[in-house]
Amino acid sequence: LNAAAVVPAAGRGERLGPGAPKALRDLGGVPILVHAVRVLARSRAVGRVVVVAPADGVAEVRALLADALGERENAVLVVVPGGATRQESVRAGLAALPDDVDVVLVHDAARPLVPVDVVDAVARTVAEGAEAVVPAVPLADTVKQVGAPAVPGAPEPVLSTPDRSTLRAVQTPQGFRRDVLDRVHTKAVAEGVDATDDAGLVERFGGRVVVVPGHEEAFKVTRPLDLVLAEAVLARRRS
Ligand code: CTP
Ligand code: MG
Repeated sequence: LNAAAVVPAAGRGERLGPGAPKALRDLGGVPILVHAVRVLARSRAVGRVVVVAPADGVAEVRALLADALGERENAVLVVVPGGATRQESVRAGLAALPDDVDVVLVHDAARPLVPVDVVDAVARTVAEGAEAVVPAVPLADTVKQVGAPAVPGAPEPVLSTPDRSTLRAVQTPQGFRRDVLDRVHTKAVAEGVDATDDAGLVERFGGRVVVVPGHEEAFKVTRPLDLVLAEAVLARRRS
């Protein structure tokens, strides 16, 4: 099977605070995006990487990756402009894939420290016949479902406590048969559906999604504290 990775990196990173787009922020001396692309390029399962950059930053991202990555990594890399939502950005990445790609891994640039073993496991599970695969980890916290406050500003009432043992926090890369991912993204546009992850679209349109073990280091850099953790993980790896 011929697998490609699509890397949505077009977000602004509003929750991380003011500064450059999140994917371009520094982590241990290189942009977050460079870490993510390196891991994918290191996976023997991945033959091509499509980076989806902020629409006004395509040239900058191209130059930065050309500079930071080796010749071998650059040979399999293309950079395309993203959209206003993550889902639009993933679609832009899918549109840039050559016809001969039959497996797609979608990986958030914002998960720079995912171990290559997770990438390989996701790709392998698709190769073995799954149409959609997500890496996931158990939840540490108990989760509550809440309702609207009785009056605006009042405390939110708790409605229920889902059984934590049946819940998972999902990560990326999420892996798909290419035809399945193309189809659900096309349907999502036609029906005006917006999902926070790609597997969510597969579920929404009746497909089967399976889970493989994720990894604690595949966490998403979302808030400032996540960047502190990411720096510490890198320092630990380097020591
Ligand atoms: N993403 C994208 N295009 C968008 C929005 C998000 O490619 N229009 C990408 C981000 O660059 C990131 C991934 O989707 O790699 C996950 O999104 P998230 O963590 O929400 O990143 P941001 O949208 O950049 O952050 P925020 O929501 O805090 O603004
Ligand atoms: Mg976002």
